[in-house]
Amino acid sequence: MAIFYLITLFERYKKKLPPGPFPMPLIGNLNLVDLNQQYISLTELSKTYGQVFTIYLGSKKKVILVGYDTIKEAFLNHGEEFVSRPEIPIFQKIGEGHGIVFSNGETWKIMRRFALHNLRDFGMGKKLIEVKIQDEVHYLITKFGSHKGKPFDTSIILKHASSNIICSILFGNRYEYDDSEFQYLLKLLDENIKLSGSAMVEIYNSYPFLGFMIGAHKTMLRNVQKMNNFLGKLFEEHALHLNVSHLTGFVDSFLLKQKQETQNPKTEFHKKNLLFATLDIFSAGTETTSTTLCWGLLLMMKYPEVQRRVQAEIDKVISLGQDPQAQDRKNMPYTEAVIHEIQRFANIVPMGVSRSALADTKFRGYIIPKGTEVIPLFSSIFKDKTQWETPHRFNPAHFLDDTGNFVKKDCFIPFGLGRRVCIGESLARMEIFLIFVGLLQKFTFKPAPGMEPADLDLTPEVGFTLTPMPHLVCAVPREEVVGS
Ligand code: HEM
Ligand SMILES: *[C@@H]1O[C@H](CO)[C@@H](O)[C@H](O)[C@H]1NC(C)=O
Repeated sequence: MAIFYLITLFERYKKKLPPGPFPMPLIGNLNLVDLNQQYISLTELSKTYGQVFTIYLGSKKKVILVGYDTIKEAFLNHGEEFVSRPEIPIFQKIGEGHGIVFSNGETWKIMRRFALHNLRDFGMGKKLIEVKIQDEVHYLITKFGSHKGKPFDTSIILKHASSNIICSILFGNRYEYDDSEFQYLLKLLDENIKLSGSAMVEIYNSYPFLGFMIGAHKTMLRNVQKMNNFLGKLFEEHALHLNVSHLTGFVDSFLLKQKQETQNPKTEFHKKNLLFATLDIFSAGTETTSTTLCWGLLLMMKYPEVQRRVQAEIDKVISLGQDPQAQDRKNMPYTEAVIHEIQRFANIVPMGVSRSALADTKFRGYIIPKGTEVIPLFSSIFKDKTQWETPHRFNPAHFLDDTGNFVKKDCFIPFGLGRRVCIGESLARMEIFLIFVGLLQKFTFKPAPGMEPADLDLTPEVGFTLTPMPHLVCAVPREEVVGS
């Protein structure tokens, strides 16, 4: 520890590390960071230390990038240097560098390319997946309608719906909303995403040798093991029924590739990559999309006048009895602005996904040492008062001009940017549009009886993603509204 401390001091004076608060022995700057709301502490610190600064969580050094210009300069202009992910102890322990999200080098290149290719083959950006999503919207509408306007929790069912879209790409099938085994899988996933952003797991990441004491990290490992068992069984079934002239999804494609490459000792198409690539697509694609939709419905209850305008636009553009289609989007500037504003306001990945420096990297006059974790503070972009008129208030006008046309904003980057940009962006955008519009076409969303829109709490619950606090929603069928 003493040695580490001396090294730290040496680094600060001899090398040109970005500035930052002075680290204390053992704890570094842990005293300055609320581990349950890191992005808020980091935003505070940036007021003192600027757009690029260093903090120490325990012995872990992290460089924080603040603001759109800084993040863009790093991930686009220095794209090659910041292309990798850092070794984060919990994810290292879970996936050992396999899969897509936390892999690097050749594994990452091959897995990412293969995943992108297959996402497209199995429908992303095409009619094929549009139809799948429209089908899922029908199931959702039936489920929402079954509550007959009485309050219920939308979060679980939205999660189920968006994971079904991912499942159709991965396995070629969906799961009924009352499938208890699948519900259990979603619960495990949810728990892990919450835990991965928790203080205890951050402590584990800062002091991995304390792992034996930290229950949260053990829970995460146990959950992954259970998810693996579930997926393992699925892979076996798919391997058994593999039909080269009828591949059902990503998993079949992978299994085929694995077969073709059995002679190649260096192949990336092995069991572990199959497992973690599948798990990565499944986790990255489920929680993000459903959380965005969950925020969307909450915000519509909170701002009924916005909801009314979206519905008016839906009724104008989509004829009665027609399903919403992806191509309607271009005729619906107000809805488009509302969806963008939901994503901006919800800010669901407030610290992006960390990158790391491939080698010692010069950036804005500083040196970011090889392997250092680099955190893009996405919340700083979405709440930046130089970019947004009312950064802390939900306001669709952020994406509209004076005549009501939709306007793009360069700094709107919820899917990241550069070589690691989200591979599911076009799928997520299509899903969010079709589900949001499909639901608002049929229902008006209202707070539970006795509550006013003003009573609804928009404070996020912490985790790796920011989700709405548990809340109930009334989905009131619109025919009734019209009739009454
Ligand atoms: C609203 C929905 C979504 C949001 C906000 C979102 C956001 C992000 C962000 C911020 C990153 C990190 C990018 C970077 O490092 O620059 C990312 C990466 C990733 N996303 Fe998404 N995502 C969403 C939906 C999806 C979906 C539906 C899928 C699955 C098809 C997906 C799969 C991935 C994967 C595999 C990566 C890792 C890419 C890599 O490391 O090369 N995401 N996403
Ligand atoms: C494989 O798929 C093709 C095309 O869908 C189908 O005609 C054939 O019957 C399938 N073979 C088996 C063994 O299921």
